[in-house]
Amino acid sequence: MDLKYKIDTGNIPQHVAIIMDGNGRWAKQQGEDRIFGHYEGVNSVREIVEACGELGVKYLTLYAFSTENWNRPKEEVDALMELLVSTISMETPNLNKKGVKLHAIGDITSLPQSCQNELQESINITANNTTVNLILALSYSSKWEIINAVKQIATQVQNGTIKTTDINANLIDNYLTTSNFPDPALMIRTSGEHRISNFLLWQLAYAEFYFTDTLWPDFRKNDFYKAILSYQNRERRFGKTSDQINNN
Ligand code: FPP
Repeated sequence: MDLKYKIDTGNIPQHVAIIMDGNGRWAKQQGEDRIFGHYEGVNSVREIVEACGELGVKYLTLYAFSTENWNRPKEEVDALMELLVSTISMETPNLNKKGVKLHAIGDITSLPQSCQNELQESINITANNTTVNLILALSYSSKWEIINAVKQIATQVQNGTIKTTDINANLIDNYLTTSNFPDPALMIRTSGEHRISNFLLWQLAYAEFYFTDTLWPDFRKNDFYKAILSYQNRERRFGKTSDQINNN
């Protein structure tokens, strides 16, 4: 059943973050190599980006490659990097047509030069689009990001540009790679794992979490609608009481 019509268009999360997990297991189930799962995962990415455009989700962050993923077998890392380059190159015209603006967060300089070039080109081509902001987390980990922010803030305090008493949540936000984006309202993880794996630890402070057993290559529009519907059935209290929320 198409669940799209059940969605309350007045309560769409502005920012959805996704841990796309289960590509390897999906491939194994098909008797294929893990890389096959990553290739199929690209089809899910395409559908979910499209669904965001249709529903009005303004920001979509995808955890495409973590700092820890560098520890995978070299053939898998190389294949993932090649897949990134070919996908970005092939999909850019489609992203552009749909009004998607591409961003990348993470230690981008650690990616192969071909990948950095392809990313930069797509970021430039899509720079004026406004329908959906697609943020790829690449060679990203939240602890890496927080360490960088702390180092920069410490340097500013040391040279007197800011005072220790100026340090607050807003200031820290400004030193994170996500400084231009609102915090995610909904975080989805596929494949039955219930972890956040070093993903947006600071930014997910008040996000709603949605876990599904569906493996990423099987996660398509209707699964995304299910996640949005689950989000819409939650009461977001931000530390307040239910009465306070309902009386406002
Ligand atoms: C996790 O599944 C998935 C990844 C580490 C890579 C995600 C990459 C893609 C979906 C393709 C490229 C994406 C873009 C945005 C171009 P896993 O390998 O950990 O699966 P497993 O837990 O079953 O082993």
